[in-house]
Amino acid sequence: MRARLVVGNWKMNPPTIEDAVELARAVAALPRSSAKLGIAPPAVALAAVADAVRGRDLAVFAQDVHWEEKGAFTGQISATMVRGLAEGAIVGHSEVRRDQGDDDVRVARKLARAVAAGLRPILCVGESEAEFVAGESTNVVARQISADLAALVRGSVGRLVVAYEPIWAIGTGRPATGAHATAAARAIRTALRGMDVDADAVPVLYGGSVSAKSVVEFARADGIDGALVGGASLDPDEFGAIVRAFT
Ligand code: PGA
Repeated sequence: MRARLVVGNWKMNPPTIEDAVELARAVAALPRSSAKLGIAPPAVALAAVADAVRGRDLAVFAQDVHWEEKGAFTGQISATMVRGLAEGAIVGHSEVRRDQGDDDVRVARKLARAVAAGLRPILCVGESEAEFVAGESTNVVARQISADLAALVRGSVGRLVVAYEPIWAIGTGRPATGAHATAAARAIRTALRGMDVDADAVPVLYGGSVSAKSVVEFARADGIDGALVGGASLDPDEFGAIVRAFT
């Protein structure tokens, strides 16, 4: 059976590095569960958070890495820089695709950089509202998986994690259904097999308005192994309740 994994994506929160350290300590103090726990603090807080939770059973992830290894890229952070501070990195989050104009070519290069640096990548895929309404969800995620894995050297997916995050469900309080997430997870694994990846070994997380209330649906959903949690991960009690649902 695949290990379950729940990761808090803090995005551009909390306001200060001190707050980030405090939140990380609170998450590290949550009762141990059979699900593996992760947090993705903002880049400026990675070092302080990594120090604060060193030796605890809590994986730290960066929220993004650049597609180049080094050079004249003002404001950017390379996968190599992240190594040592974090166990892994999120790549292809829809907010980064939206705000930084990342297409699948860039996401593919970011994923390849993360894997080459020895980071555990959490690759985000998911359809837009218009694609959802058009009934295109499974086609979209299948296409994204093929495109986003295209720059990987065959057989080098590392410990890939895929997060299925329908864009229309992120931050809207309108999560998908468990059945929809199951169908997406199935399409993701079929596409992974098409890329010669051992899809049964790849955890697929659901993300998009996961809360203590909505999580039950996804904890029961076939093919879903955990969650990538945004807003609700900033409250340790609620995050704890979400983790418990996956235990
Ligand atoms: P949300 O964000 O839980 O606030 O909807 C999820 C994500 O973007 O990873």
